[in-house]
Amino acid sequence: MTETEDESVNSAEQNAPVGGYGSPNGSMRGFLSEVQADLAQGMLSPRVLNDPELHQAELERIFATCWVFVGHVSEIPSPGDYVLRYVGEDQFILVRDEQGEIQLLLNSCMHRGTMVCRAEKGNTSHFRCPYHGWIYKNSGDWNGAPHRGKAYRKLDAASWGLRRAPHVDSYQGLIFACLDPDAISLREYLGDMCWYLDVLFGLNEQGMSVAGDPHRWVVPANWKSGADNFVGDAYHVQSLHQSLGEIGLVPGIEKGAGAHFHISLKGGHGLIANSGILPEPFGVMGYPPEVASTFDLDRFEADQRAFLEGRFGVTGFTIFPNLSFFRSVTSTEVGQPPMNFTLLRQWQPRGPAKFDLWNWSLVWNSAPKEYNQAAYNAGINAFGPSGVFEQDDTVAWSGGPSTGRSVFARQSMKFNYQMGLEGMSDYALASDWMGPGDASTTYYGDMNQRRWWHRWSEQLQSS
Ligand code: FES
Ligand code: FE
Repeated sequence: MTETEDESVNSAEQNAPVGGYGSPNGSMRGFLSEVQADLAQGMLSPRVLNDPELHQAELERIFATCWVFVGHVSEIPSPGDYVLRYVGEDQFILVRDEQGEIQLLLNSCMHRGTMVCRAEKGNTSHFRCPYHGWIYKNSGDWNGAPHRGKAYRKLDAASWGLRRAPHVDSYQGLIFACLDPDAISLREYLGDMCWYLDVLFGLNEQGMSVAGDPHRWVVPANWKSGADNFVGDAYHVQSLHQSLGEIGLVPGIEKGAGAHFHISLKGGHGLIANSGILPEPFGVMGYPPEVASTFDLDRFEADQRAFLEGRFGVTGFTIFPNLSFFRSVTSTEVGQPPMNFTLLRQWQPRGPAKFDLWNWSLVWNSAPKEYNQAAYNAGINAFGPSGVFEQDDTVAWSGGPSTGRSVFARQSMKFNYQMGLEGMSDYALASDWMGPGDASTTYYGDMNQRRWWHRWSEQLQSS
């Protein structure tokens, strides 16, 4: 089956001349219907990359209703440990309470809205608001106020705790929260992504931990450009990152891109997978023997084991809406052997034309310390505020907001997402893929991106 059959794309319409752009500034519902019709033709309005109305709708209908990543279990291992995090543009305290339960508390005092916690991380049994001194337990429960006997004799303490995310859960060490009381479970939300999270993070009992604090910096682009890139855009590597091959940091970078393919999952989640981009002695998932020997493949089902032993890997993924992952190899210096590193990346919206990029490095608890240090160095050399890949990507994405708000662009152009549609390339769905999801035969396709945007448009139309 080709991907175009799956999406019911009419090839005659697909090749129609560009034009007929409908209502570039029209009503939201009409616009979102156009987005879905456009996607079936492999096109997308630039309006999506800079529009205040769409941005507000994203905060209400995506970030307040979907499961959103908020941290890794290794960041808050002990009771009282906390870090500040965001869901959409709201700041929360991610904390492990005295009972060991993970809570996500709105960092906003119930008295007048003052932030009750101003440190990025720490350990505490209570949060005391600096304004009038109300006190909350690290579970969020209201715990008292100055002169309570005179000021609040009849206050119902049970009603005045910090607002708590109704759902917090984790999978393979990744903590997600959902602000919708009626949400489906995290397992159901992740769906088939669990299969891939197992082979990426569950290679042994010890698992992975964050190495240091996440790096954070501001990017002058729309948050969706990052999600779009990591869900399926292997095509840009040979062009945007070509210089890294030329200077010897990533020898054969064009060949690496060619070894990639896509896996598309229900819910808009998608992966960029690879088939053995490293020569021996790099084994399971591109790890050298001293690390691969610490993995326990007996814990996997036959199909997952076949994936791991088949020299397959996952370079990147995006879990809808804004969590991405990157695992690949670069050298930290020209002539040095490539080193495999793992990153979690989050695209945090800050208005329609700016986002905060958060970048966590993860290392194997079972690996030698020297290896983990070298992997960390390789990761921050490639991605992060000074990363050699990062500076390429973020400059490219920064064109989105100016195009997105341009009256002329909205009237006269649409972005091209036609790669992989019928007749465009040899892109097709593999009939014998061992894992869940739709796997492609090449990376010359925009299937994952189109499906991510389709989920985005559906979510914005949800009530
Ligand atoms: Fe927090 Fe008054 S605003 S105690
Ligand atoms: Fe890139």
